[in-house]
Amino acid sequence: MKLKTNDPCWCGSGHKHKRCHGDRHALTYPPVTLGRVSPPRAVPDGIARPSYVTTGIVPPQTPQIQDAASLTRLRRACAVAAEVLLRTGEQVGIGVTTDDLDRVAHDVYVELGAYPSDLHYRGFPKSICTSVNGVVCHGIPDDRPLEEGDIINIDVTAYIDGMHGDTSATFHVGTPTAALAGLVDTTRDATLRGIAAIRPFEPLQRIAEAIEPFAESRGYSVVREYGGHGIGESFHGAPHVSHHVDRRDDSIVVPGMTFTVEPMLCSGRARFHQAADGWTEHADDNRPSAQFEHTVLVTDTGAEILTVTTDGRTAAGTLDTVNAARSSPRTT
Ligand code: MF3
Ligand code: CO
Ligand code: CO
Repeated sequence: MKLKTNDPCWCGSGHKHKRCHGDRHALTYPPVTLGRVSPPRAVPDGIARPSYVTTGIVPPQTPQIQDAASLTRLRRACAVAAEVLLRTGEQVGIGVTTDDLDRVAHDVYVELGAYPSDLHYRGFPKSICTSVNGVVCHGIPDDRPLEEGDIINIDVTAYIDGMHGDTSATFHVGTPTAALAGLVDTTRDATLRGIAAIRPFEPLQRIAEAIEPFAESRGYSVVREYGGHGIGESFHGAPHVSHHVDRRDDSIVVPGMTFTVEPMLCSGRARFHQAADGWTEHADDNRPSAQFEHTVLVTDTGAEILTVTTDGRTAAGTLDTVNAARSSPRTT
């Protein structure tokens, strides 16, 4: 059920939603102004590029299904992406520009021997996407310094061993308000619930069925125009992974399939428009929006998150947290 502004807040405080996690004042932001974009960063010659960089050809969007050998390569790309995201996220802070974060990320990709998949993908000029506050996705790193109270999604895709690994997380700048923490925490939980709902030989729609009602029960809206995507040798392959329930989609998932789950949740309406740069998607009402993303593998029993480091670390959350949250009684 969609939560209404006069309903009791989902957090259990007993206050109306509009006086608690739906507080309009805490969620009113000026539009994010676009700054200056620095020149694309150089990648050493020894690092292999995807075909869309070398030939300009974006491969067709075929389903991405792995065997043992390709999965080993994909795991490596995903571990690199997880590491880049962690190390870039550590640098988020007041006064840091999104271009500073792009440099940090770029240097980690290169250190780990990977190509930043975003760089020159369909003309994208930087090595990560940085989407601040009311920017829904595809923000281009620039010279805007982060401010107290901002949120920023950092989206990392690494190409190595012929495979792309894609992951993102939303970080707070300074101390978050309860309203903003609610958006970010709910978006992470929605992503993990969507992943936890995956079952082999069952509908892909299980993901959206887990995400959309959960988001709406907390007063958030789910972006429809962008979804997850098959991933592996292709950056954006089949299937298209909707995060809102789409009754026309009757596709079934099978073991070995690899795709991303990456819902964008909006604290306002999920309506947005593209900036003149051809990438940045601004929420029409400038209300903050958050996103988390993992690359996942469909297994014989469910799904495994691939975008973790070799020792299991990630900035985007693990299934342990969602399983724990669902099996223990609510304490707040
Ligand atoms: N990483 C984004 C995704 O999750 C895609 C970014 S494409 C870029 O699919 F060109 F904007 F970088
Ligand atoms: Co991504
Ligand atoms: Co993606």
